[in-house]
Amino acid sequence: MSLIKTKKELQSPLLIAKENGSLGLVPTMGALHQGHISLVKKALSENDTVVVTIFVNPTQFDNKEDLDKYPDTLDADRKLLGEVSENLIIFAPQAKEIYGSEIESESFDFGGLDTVMEGAFREGHFEGVGTIVEKLLTLVQPARAYFGEKDFQQLQIIKKLVVLKNIPVAIIGCPIVREPSGLAMSSRNERLSSELREEASFIYKTLCSAKARFGTKSAQVVTEWVERQFEEHPDLELEYFMISDIEKLRPVQRKRRNKKYRGFIAVYAKDVRLIDNIALN
Ligand code: PAF
Repeated sequence: MSLIKTKKELQSPLLIAKENGSLGLVPTMGALHQGHISLVKKALSENDTVVVTIFVNPTQFDNKEDLDKYPDTLDADRKLLGEVSENLIIFAPQAKEIYGSEIESESFDFGGLDTVMEGAFREGHFEGVGTIVEKLLTLVQPARAYFGEKDFQQLQIIKKLVVLKNIPVAIIGCPIVREPSGLAMSSRNERLSSELREEASFIYKTLCSAKARFGTKSAQVVTEWVERQFEEHPDLELEYFMISDIEKLRPVQRKRRNKKYRGFIAVYAKDVRLIDNIALN
């Protein structure tokens, strides 16, 4: 399994891979867990060669402390990927290799998909995501690229990005992978104490109850119910819960039969910010 650090070194393996068949891309920021591995396995099942990128993208962090705290576990990541397949290309560049001396985001018109939820609470986040994903797609030129539905808003924005920029790639969304407790897998879970990690399963339990209520109650009633559950919880602080249609990600006023809705949530477990979402219908 090759670990490549420069764009130049990547060229010849990419050329060979494309001569041999189709290419899949799994972009990650490392600190890999079973959620990432599910993306890699799906990519391997649909492509002849898979490139996994490991790059902690500085432009998508609105908070310097969050960036500094982001785990760097390259050796463990390599080992985990090696257990899945020896046939992966791992690209793990430094920021300078990707951005040169100007570490800056491009601007995009994501048509409002980026102004709600994560976009509203993390300034500039999706400009940073759009910038790096465009760079990686242009560099690797895969037939398919894989992203987890835990970051559902990101997934919709990346689908929009490839249309905006006319990038010929299929964007594949993959289901959320959960810990046995129900907590969505995330690199940030490692920063939770074992008690808090157990308590954080309350997030998914609440989402499941919200889904059951959404069958008969309005979005507003369900939203207020979720907000009340967290008011009573000592260690989990709700940042937002929002019910949106899955295409435009606009908050739902009145439910419509032909639309699909999801509930989206962001919660602080002490200083660790966790997100999750659930299909409601
Ligand atoms: O989902 C992530 O890990 C990141 O946002 C991504 C897509 C790898 C871009 O840095």
